[in-house]
Amino acid sequence: MANQQAQDLFEDLEFLGDDELISLAMGAPGKEALSGCTEIMMTATESAMSDLTQEKYVFQYGPRQGDPGFLEHLAKFLSVQYGDNNISKDNLMVTAGATHGLHLTATVLFKEDIPVFVEDPTYFIAIKMLGKDLGRTVIPVPVGDDGIDVDKLEEMLKKHRHKAGDKSTWKCPFWTMLYLMTVYNNPRGNCPSPEKCNRLVELARKYDVLLFTEDVYNLLHFEEGNPPPRLLSYDVSDDPEYLGCVLSNGTFSKIFAPGLRLGWIEGRPGVVRLIMTSNTAWSGGSFNHYTSRVVSAALQTGLLSQHLTKLCSVYRERMNLLCQALLKYLPAGCHFKQPKGGFFAWITLPDTVDGEALLSLANGKHKVNFITGQSTSPTGSFKNCIRLSISFADTNQIDAGVERLCKAIKEYTLNVANSESSCS
Ligand SMILES: Cc1ncc(COP(=O)(O)O)c(C=O)c1O
Repeated sequence: MANQQAQDLFEDLEFLGDDELISLAMGAPGKEALSGCTEIMMTATESAMSDLTQEKYVFQYGPRQGDPGFLEHLAKFLSVQYGDNNISKDNLMVTAGATHGLHLTATVLFKEDIPVFVEDPTYFIAIKMLGKDLGRTVIPVPVGDDGIDVDKLEEMLKKHRHKAGDKSTWKCPFWTMLYLMTVYNNPRGNCPSPEKCNRLVELARKYDVLLFTEDVYNLLHFEEGNPPPRLLSYDVSDDPEYLGCVLSNGTFSKIFAPGLRLGWIEGRPGVVRLIMTSNTAWSGGSFNHYTSRVVSAALQTGLLSQHLTKLCSVYRERMNLLCQALLKYLPAGCHFKQPKGGFFAWITLPDTVDGEALLSLANGKHKVNFITGQSTSPTGSFKNCIRLSISFADTNQIDAGVERLCKAIKEYTLNVANSESSCS
């Protein structure tokens, strides 16, 4: 796998004083998207602290599942945002963000010697976290325009199923997990069709697989109405084959502020209970209890919904600007589809482009950056693809960022053409 250091991303934060660099790499909110967070947290903190009889609870370890008031407000917020009346606080558990939700699930529910399946391409840090930090064998499953290739997935599940061992040795009702994103995917920005989602649930039931879905971008939805349904809503509990095989991983990082380190998982109560009754949750109490009490007030007063509405409109405008700029500046032979939500657009460049070499030119000379396709791929594929993000650069930087990027692409392809002709 090619090696774009995760560190590159966060070094961007150091560039805040360097007005020259435009980051189309960062998948975190920038200044503009974070404005208003202070006021919301001050108002919510005042409200959460106003009742001194609560002091002994607010600053204590919390219940392992999470503060009941927070879970209730979260369930209501999610029901409205998703347009889904089946969301109950009993199916939710607080986490310290989506990274933590993944870490908890992978470590608590699955044995170390069991391989885990991921989309290829996928969230680039998840590959490193599962593979390097947790020592899991990561098995990439190919993805096309309509999400994961389910026939390949079935073949792979059949092939690796023997590694599961005897059912009695499993730590949960599933022998492995598939890490995926079905709404506003990172890095591709797309949503697989309902048929694909149904098929995934069918396969997960047939092969005892947990579908661990990152539902972190879903609510950054640019069209009228509710966002596309989560994979969780395809796993209907009235079905005779129901297993509760989908776990939804949520976070406030993209819809509010990553510095809060607050998120949740949602799934069948039996599966959530397995995580809740882990020793990790026992020792930690409610993960990030204090913050959840404050955010509970922000949910209750509607401040968070208002903030989310503002974010959707900021990001919608930026995505439009990004795509208009791409249409204006991209050279022939490059392709993309405009995403309807989330942070990312996925661009396919001519086959001759190597993303890492292009990044070095774009970053060094043209002062713009992005995530390379190969860094999102456990197999190092997608060399000629790049992921652009609208989350960090301010609205007035998007057009300039794309213009610089396209200059870099043109310069790069010209250099390649020149060196090919001088060799022939
Ligand atoms: C798919 C995905 N999961 C998790 C995260 C990290 O989320 P959190 O800040 O909640 O840990 C990101 C951030 O880029 C992401 O894109």
